[in-house]
Amino acid sequence: MYTLEELKKYCINCKKCNLCNGRTNVVFGDGNGNADIMFIGEGPGYNEDKQGVPFVGAAGKLLDKMLNAIGLKRSDIYIANIVKCRPPNNRNPLEEESKQCIEYLRWQVKIINPKIIVCLGAVSARHIISPDFRITKQRGQWIKKGRFHIMPTYHPAALLRDANKKKYAWEDFKAIKEMYEDLKS
Ligand code: URA
Ligand code: SF4
Repeated sequence: MYTLEELKKYCINCKKCNLCNGRTNVVFGDGNGNADIMFIGEGPGYNEDKQGVPFVGAAGKLLDKMLNAIGLKRSDIYIANIVKCRPPNNRNPLEEESKQCIEYLRWQVKIINPKIIVCLGAVSARHIISPDFRITKQRGQWIKKGRFHIMPTYHPAALLRDANKKKYAWEDFKAIKEMYEDLKS
């Protein structure tokens, strides 16, 4: 089994899909490699590409606030994306790109072995839970897959676009906190 560092070294030289052409940095992942909880987003945006760190732009700042509100810090969690290089103009990743890149995410999940996985947004939920997942209709319900408790919720960028969604995301974060505490004991 690789370590997270070994996997990262391999991944930052990756040219498996066309997204390698436009990237400044591969955004491998960030946080605690022993975390009980992993958050999975979609793909790097402008700031993430520049810095090589996931969720550092506006959506990331909101995510940090929501984490803090349930007593978690970035150093308590691990965070990564479905694709690790920025899609041009922040478009959704193409199927071929996700298919190539998700191998790295699978390894990250195997190595970190979290108890909880939070899918941030539809692209994440469709790749982790099921291809026809509808985030508006189906968010907020725990899904058990193997040994993982999976919670699909809105992407923080969606909350920035539509503040009406925030109350639902807050319910989901409270459920996440509850499960996190339950699984600790
Ligand atoms: N949105 C994502 O899905 N991932 C990031 O890393 C940043 C914004
Ligand atoms: Fe490799 Fe993933 Fe980047 Fe594509 S997006 S080049 S698969 S690291």
